[in-house]
Amino acid sequence: MISLNTTYAEGFVSASELAGAVASHADVLARAQAGEARYADSLGWLSTFEWAGPEQLAEIGQLAERFRAIADTFVIIGVGGSNNSARAVVEALHPSGMRIVYAGNTLSAEALNHMLASLEGHSVVIDCIAKNFETLEPGSSFRLLRQWLVARYGREEAAKRIVCCGTIGSSLEQLACDEGYAFVPFATTVGGRYTAMTAVHLLPLACAGVDISELVAGAAEMEQLCRTTPAEDNVALRYATLRNLLWEKGYRVELLSFFEPRFRWFGKWWEQLFGESEGKDAKGLFPASAEYSEELHSLGQFVQDGTHLLFETLLDVTGKGELDSLVLGESDVADGFGYLDGVDFWDINKASMGATRAAHAQTLPVLTLELDATDVRHWGMLFYFFEFACYLSGSILGVNPFDQPGVEAYKALMFKALGK
Ligand code: PA5
Repeated sequence: MISLNTTYAEGFVSASELAGAVASHADVLARAQAGEARYADSLGWLSTFEWAGPEQLAEIGQLAERFRAIADTFVIIGVGGSNNSARAVVEALHPSGMRIVYAGNTLSAEALNHMLASLEGHSVVIDCIAKNFETLEPGSSFRLLRQWLVARYGREEAAKRIVCCGTIGSSLEQLACDEGYAFVPFATTVGGRYTAMTAVHLLPLACAGVDISELVAGAAEMEQLCRTTPAEDNVALRYATLRNLLWEKGYRVELLSFFEPRFRWFGKWWEQLFGESEGKDAKGLFPASAEYSEELHSLGQFVQDGTHLLFETLLDVTGKGELDSLVLGESDVADGFGYLDGVDFWDINKASMGATRAAHAQTLPVLTLELDATDVRHWGMLFYFFEFACYLSGSILGVNPFDQPGVEAYKALMFKALGK
């Protein structure tokens, strides 16, 4: 489960101020819980089973089985919302199915050369994920990898190793149909960054060996909570309200920090979700993430002592999993760390977290989102929680949380430069 601890923010936002603001946004919550008609084209994720019901999961499972039977490596060709959530889960859980390789997320020749080199000696399947099939990174990587597959396996065998996830009626579907590639529809009513519980990510995750029904069950459990809990106890609304109160008080950056490196790629997913959803109309918090304790030795100085523009949201895992314990033995030499004899790294990490939070709270608000486990079910909960909170937060801020008009400016100039 996920809970919000506001103790370390109370010097900046009092409990009564927060309660008053939460109550004043009860109407925003009610609209989001029902789903607003004006966003009907973007709210397919609100009901988890709409794109991840038993039938869809069974189809995804069958396709994954087919690929796992012929290959050991699965290349995700996708960028932003078409890559981030699957990557967050794979890099956190280290599942034991197909090896996942990432492409379609860069234009760097050097990075692409490394990616191609990593395929040598492996049996490969590729998945081109593109809602519009106009984005440069996946489009160019798909051609590169298609040609690589044809050179390696011949055209007929290569076709069996390609799946496309695109919008029905798009040029990607046409291409897949013409060439005999497998085709999976991209959820029509879900924008890229809200697609965690759709085939966009569930197919790669199933291939990687993640239990996708458990993931979806976690999201559905969180959906139930977010969509039925009244305003005063609704954790997503309380978090969304706090973000907006802090924005109104002049804070401009939200730093998502964590003491578990397993959240590294989740941080990227979260940055994209909030960055594209809220950063518009000259408004919004800049979302950044920090991996502690490593970055206490870099960003930590600024967080504690630098310009007062950021507040922190700390993701804290409270429950121990299977690998969350490692006891440090007594030293056989005088290494100066005698105080660590027989201490568990779990407790060392928690001591570091507690001290950091207390120190940071002297100069900035620190919200804590407590997660009682990080098993696959809780990953499903995390995705739904933040998607719902983002919908609420953008609505409170007064922006459309589902569009991203700001990315068109550079694209127009880039396509002009490339002669499109
Ligand atoms: O959230 C979004 O809509 C974007 O971040 C997209 O996911 C990203 O730009 C990739 O788009 P596409 O899948 O159309 O290539």
